[in-house]
Amino acid sequence: MKRSRILSGMRPTGKLHLGHLVGALDNWVRLQDEYECFYCIVDWHALTTHYDSTQGIREMIVDNAIDWLTAGLDPNRSTLFIQSHVVEHAVLSMIVPLPWLERVPTYKEQMAEIKEHDLHTYGFLGYPLLQSADILIYKANAVPVGADQVAHIELTREIARRFNHFYGQVFPEPQTLLTKVPKLPGTDGRKMSKSYGNTIALSEKPDVMKEIVRNMVTDPARVRRTDPGNPDICPVGDYHDVFSDKNRVAEVDHGCRTAGIGCVECKMWLFDSLQKRLGPRYERRQQLESRPQDVLDILNEGSKKARVAAGETMAEVRNAMKV
Ligand code: TRP
Ligand code: SF4
Repeated sequence: MKRSRILSGMRPTGKLHLGHLVGALDNWVRLQDEYECFYCIVDWHALTTHYDSTQGIREMIVDNAIDWLTAGLDPNRSTLFIQSHVVEHAVLSMIVPLPWLERVPTYKEQMAEIKEHDLHTYGFLGYPLLQSADILIYKANAVPVGADQVAHIELTREIARRFNHFYGQVFPEPQTLLTKVPKLPGTDGRKMSKSYGNTIALSEKPDVMKEIVRNMVTDPARVRRTDPGNPDICPVGDYHDVFSDKNRVAEVDHGCRTAGIGCVECKMWLFDSLQKRLGPRYERRQQLESRPQDVLDILNEGSKKARVAAGETMAEVRNAMKV
């Protein structure tokens, strides 16, 4: 039986961090067992906001791809590719009413929030439309995303319905595969965000990571070593829940509440857990960093496969539209 196809994407706007790992990559890796997967580095989406400076974007594409590969995305099973290498993504704009785009929540929010770029561009308004094209052009049946993207997938379904209504059935209406994201705050306890400087990059050197963990915010009730604390309201506790095994989590819970352990000790346990998961990847990352051309070759090969799939859909589109 032909497997269902999924597609998802990530913008190459910065180094990937633990949030990307537990919020997307771990899930993408698992989905490879069940689906035919297309994973796309969406560089055009990065340009919807950062259009005035494209410097460094190629390096970031390779850097993110290295994190993808070390996380376990397998180019032999999944198509890993670069959006701008497939021109067909530009289709669909003819039939989409402007108000559909103007009412997308992320559009309104970012228009209000982002002050450092002029966002009155066709490209920015078209962000979710470009995303819809990403999905429809591969006739993806489902899209793994976090809750912030649900409105975009809903729009994609509306556009698919509209196209099919005008020209006949071509596009499946893709389902949202909502990713369960565990609670993982930033190292200072606020929401994890690159702009707060409270993330831990997947590419972090182990000794730097150790310092970051050592400086993490803890339950403020533990002023002295003898003061008991509560791991449920401590970011270090949240990290243990995600990265440590059950025994360790139990030890942390008991030790924290009884003041049986100190926060420094607790943090070093966390560092050990992180190293268990990330240490081997760090080594693999270093190998790949010294061979960027190999990484590009993988993406070029994937982009070739993606172009074939997109070309097949485009033939159907032209046929349906009689153009
Ligand atoms: N908008 C998505 C995000 O910011 C990235 C993205 C672009 C995407 N195209 C996609 C996600 C297609 C899923 C499918 O996370
Ligand atoms: Fe947080 Fe651990 Fe300190 Fe408890 S012992 S407050 S969980 S760092």
